[in-house]
Amino acid sequence: MDIKKIFDNNQKWIVKKLGINQNYFKNLSEGQNPEILYIGCSDSRVSAEELMGLEPGEVFVHRNIANMVPNTDLNVMSVINYAVTHLKVKHVVVCGHYNCGGVKAAMQSEDLGLLNPWLRNIRDVYRLHKSELDAISCEDNKYNKLVELNVQEQCVNILKTAAIQKAFKEREITVHGWVWDIQSGKLIDLKIDFDKILKDIMEIYHLS
Ligand code: CO
Repeated sequence: MDIKKIFDNNQKWIVKKLGINQNYFKNLSEGQNPEILYIGCSDSRVSAEELMGLEPGEVFVHRNIANMVPNTDLNVMSVINYAVTHLKVKHVVVCGHYNCGGVKAAMQSEDLGLLNPWLRNIRDVYRLHKSELDAISCEDNKYNKLVELNVQEQCVNILKTAAIQKAFKEREITVHGWVWDIQSGKLIDLKIDFDKILKDIMEIYHLS
């Protein structure tokens, strides 16, 4: 790819945006008020704004390998804290995707060096749901299921944070678990029953 093309694209984009609204960038510069925090995978095929049909300013985005929310990762924890406590987003989304290389790597016995501790979080998800996953004989279906269960467990990690627990008490805020089907382009709501999950675990994770 010719990097120069990116700057040409940028110039065309500016002209297009100003053609629709002369104050487009002036308005953007005045501040952000997004209603959604989106946590997704860094995979180049999985966009954030584009697949949701949203514009700059509408979604606060965090992406990492396999859309993880590790409890000690200062990066994702800072993003959640800022989005929930300061931007006061109304929705927090964890969006996984089928054919996720990170999830695939965690299903294999291979030393991946620096990636090992990161992917171990996904191995932990497998261990938590081992009986359900081992009962699936088709490898592809098992892989898809792990993608979904990983989304669910990362949502649970969000529910463990003080920021979300405090926000739940003070206002309307919803956590969503989604999967993007890379083969059809379709965004799927996993409709995770957090009430049921929380009933089982909140006794342990309640912070106040
Ligand atoms: Co991925």
